[in-house]
Amino acid sequence: MPQKNTSRLPGRHFLQIPGPTPLPDRIMRAIDMPLIDQRGPEFARLGKRVLEGIKTIFKTTQPVIIYTATGTGAWEAALVNTLSPGDRVLMVETGQFATLWKIMAERLGLKPEFIKTDWRVGADPKVIEEHLRKDKGHEIKAVCVLHNETATGCLSPIAAIRKSIDAAGHPALLLVDTISSLASTDYRHDEWGVDVTIGGAQKGLMLPPGMSFNAVSEKALRASKTAKLPRSFFQWDDMLTMYKQGFFPYTPATQMLFGLDTAIEMLHEEGLDNVFARHDRLAEATRRAVRAWDLEILCRDPQYYSPTITAVLLPDGYDADQFRDIALNTFNIAYGASFGPYAKKYFRIGHLGDINDAMLIGALGATEMALALAGVPHKKGGVQAAMDYIVSAQSGATRVAAE
Ligand SMILES: Cc1ncc(COP(=O)(O)O)c(C=O)c1O
Repeated sequence: MPQKNTSRLPGRHFLQIPGPTPLPDRIMRAIDMPLIDQRGPEFARLGKRVLEGIKTIFKTTQPVIIYTATGTGAWEAALVNTLSPGDRVLMVETGQFATLWKIMAERLGLKPEFIKTDWRVGADPKVIEEHLRKDKGHEIKAVCVLHNETATGCLSPIAAIRKSIDAAGHPALLLVDTISSLASTDYRHDEWGVDVTIGGAQKGLMLPPGMSFNAVSEKALRASKTAKLPRSFFQWDDMLTMYKQGFFPYTPATQMLFGLDTAIEMLHEEGLDNVFARHDRLAEATRRAVRAWDLEILCRDPQYYSPTITAVLLPDGYDADQFRDIALNTFNIAYGASFGPYAKKYFRIGHLGDINDAMLIGALGATEMALALAGVPHKKGGVQAAMDYIVSAQSGATRVAAE
């Protein structure tokens, strides 16, 4: 019998949205602590530890600013610290989040130039290079791209974009949003020559929402000395002065910092390369399930496949929001919504953060059942395809361990 007249969905909620991601019990316990004096010695030790620790996640030796703000705040911080009113900035319309960042740039008085895509690919380094070559007077002051477009599940090649800026001989700053890629897939702030990397707490870092980051290069710090956009709360200088003692210029989000400390510890215990391999495996297993269902992945070019999110298009005439409702009400699983030109046409499976193979198979099982229940035309066998892939991917590792 289907569930009726119930206000409770039993069992663990499957939070399969692309962030916030499931909160590990260990982080919940780390946060569940009495408050401490934010100007005392215990806080100074915590502050110094997390300010150093977070650098290892961004792969930088440069400062990382920690904001008590969601990712949107860190977007704003990156722009207002480096740019001046009327500056031209080059952005790429990879999807909804790139569009929101562009709207923010306009509101701040910048002049974004928006390279169009069909929302089914990442940013193309060649197109960026061509655009920059045309800017002979070097009026474009920054190139702003999303490493991972959360709305579509497309990853952009940041190292190649750096090379394209250099190949064009262009001095623009490179600002990169890693909100849905950091701590889930390889990212190298220093080695890839990124000037400001924007990060968020609630995805790969496995924390609640409400904290975000700017990793800043020397070039970005120099730009901040002459940048004229108004800023106060987001001012890097104030932060950097206080960081020397492990303190913040305002009351810090102490509980979030306890959580961050533990998140960094957990990521290194697993090993960053293992974290990245796990995300790659979960993503490939998900894509194999989608193909076996005979459904279409929104990202249409495999070179841009996201290791953290897979957006699944439903056949014409099927409403993805209704499908999500059925899945939530019946199987207690939440997926990400769809946006823009594809609103109601796809749902997004988040496979990032503290999730493992068995959790993913549970989520894909719920998805396959929900497809059947919602009457969405599909083939069976998606979960089997995902399991077969995971077994083959894990078998090498298991055999080595057994010898
Ligand atoms: C890629 C990306 N950028 C920016 C944001 C905005 O972050 P927040 O919602 O934490 O303000 C998000 C949110 O999901 C995102 O996925």
